[in-house]
Amino acid sequence: MLLDQLITQFDNGLRTLLATPHSGRPHPDAHLAEGSLSDADKRHAAALMRVNHTGEVCAQALYSGQALTARDGKTVQALKQAAREETEHLAWCEQRIKQLGGRTSLLNPLFYGGSFAMGALAGVLGDKWNLGFLAETERQVGAHLEQHLQTLPAADEKSRAIVATMRADEAEHAATAVAQGAAELPAPLKHAMQQVSRLMTSSTYRL
Ligand SMILES: [Fe+2]
Ligand SMILES: [Fe+2]
Repeated sequence: MLLDQLITQFDNGLRTLLATPHSGRPHPDAHLAEGSLSDADKRHAAALMRVNHTGEVCAQALYSGQALTARDGKTVQALKQAAREETEHLAWCEQRIKQLGGRTSLLNPLFYGGSFAMGALAGVLGDKWNLGFLAETERQVGAHLEQHLQTLPAADEKSRAIVATMRADEAEHAATAVAQGAAELPAPLKHAMQQVSRLMTSSTYRL
């Protein structure tokens, strides 16, 4: 029933924004010692991990929105599996931000709401577009994590290990979506998505 589902999704939203997420897998940086970072390095790394954390909040919201409106049972299962891994990403980023002395973004509720709406809309368009949107999102997130690997301080091996594992997971998520029959999105839509993500990254680096 739609109302039940809405309540479940609302509950997911509150948990994403307020509760401390847990990771089934060990954190990718668990075996690494803290590097010697200057204050400026720490601030920069914490800001980048804050951007990644908000990216994962958006991923939660997208997946929740999509699962609400996806039609095929197999699609719903694929979305739920990916969402579980995104919860782990959320946990890794959150812990790392704390270790670096930073905080998560104040804008998270805003981005959660926007992403949920976009996910629900993509779901309404039908599963092949839903999956197409998902594949493109994961590809863009992957490219952006790649960029972070270039700019994270060299001594911050812990953040690097987290970002590298996330990048591998996102590539997997994109491949799953394609295997499930994702459609290729039109170029103008891909471009619009890039613009939105640019807005997200530049604002959450500061806020
Ligand atoms: Fe992720
Ligand atoms: Fe992902």
